[in-house]
Amino acid sequence: STKINREVRYVIPSCPVLEVDRKRVQMFRLLGEGAFGSVHSGQLLVGNKPKDVAVKMLKRNYSEEELVALFKEMEIMKLMSRNPHPNIIKLVGISTRNGPFLLLVELAHHGNLRDFLKYRCLSDRVALQYHNLHPGTKQMQYLPCVSGQLLLQFATDVASALDFMASIKIVHRDVAARNILVANGDNNDGSLVAKVADFGLTRNVQDKDYYRVINEGKLPVKWLAPECLRSRVFSTESDVWAYGILLFEIYSFGELPYPGVSPGDILGHLESGKVNSRPKFAGEPMYQLMRQCWSWDPKLRPGFREILNRLEEMRTAGN
Ligand code: ADE
Repeated sequence: STKINREVRYVIPSCPVLEVDRKRVQMFRLLGEGAFGSVHSGQLLVGNKPKDVAVKMLKRNYSEEELVALFKEMEIMKLMSRNPHPNIIKLVGISTRNGPFLLLVELAHHGNLRDFLKYRCLSDRVALQYHNLHPGTKQMQYLPCVSGQLLLQFATDVASALDFMASIKIVHRDVAARNILVANGDNNDGSLVAKVADFGLTRNVQDKDYYRVINEGKLPVKWLAPECLRSRVFSTESDVWAYGILLFEIYSFGELPYPGVSPGDILGHLESGKVNSRPKFAGEPMYQLMRQCWSWDPKLRPGFREILNRLEEMRTAGN
């Protein structure tokens, strides 16, 4: 990709209600780093009250495409904040003047769902886990166990966010446990809530019901529906497929989907009729739901409304 000449300056259109003075932003720990840039934990001074935020910014030698991608992510988050949803990470502010473009979003204190689950276990199993959540601090640590009810709650939180997004014709395109964040519940009662984040690939599809990707680089192959792998057509139905893969991740405590299958072989694997086998901690009704999300024909996949009903049935049935 084309690297930006150091002399070139991009003027990013601001937004008066969101613009914050970067002198009021403090950055702390590096939370994550991707090809695009980085995310730090931090605080924003609102009046004289500090507010926890996550600060997303580009790498030093960012390309124009990467800047555009971050800008699009901001636009999608702005669009969704008109009608805030409890299971979607909120946009807190932006800083476009006198320095690098900063995207300030709600901080989720427990990080992403995949890592959260990876180092935990179901309540009836041993609690001692070896974890390296924080780079450089490998240590044995007791992490609280996770109940089956909480797994089901996380699944419901995400389905609820995606149902809302589908209703306003927004396709996420990168539904996966690494892009779901775990935050504290609102009442500070120790409850946890899952929130959809990372809208880097998200697109507003408005009245065409699908989105065709032209010439876009890396795609999360193991989360993609066959029609995405074949013709790069993305839709709410392909988000449902990815949601099924997310259920697999939740009920295997963060295992990589299709273990032993290399990304290049996924389409062939699916074409031969194979899907993920039942993860260890999923009951039969939960696995049936996953299987339906993985229907070859997009029209046969359940909608998020139906998924929510099915999850509610499982909750009341106590499995
Ligand atoms: N990693 C990426 N975005 C994050 C956020 N908003 N909160 C916590 N960790 C993150």
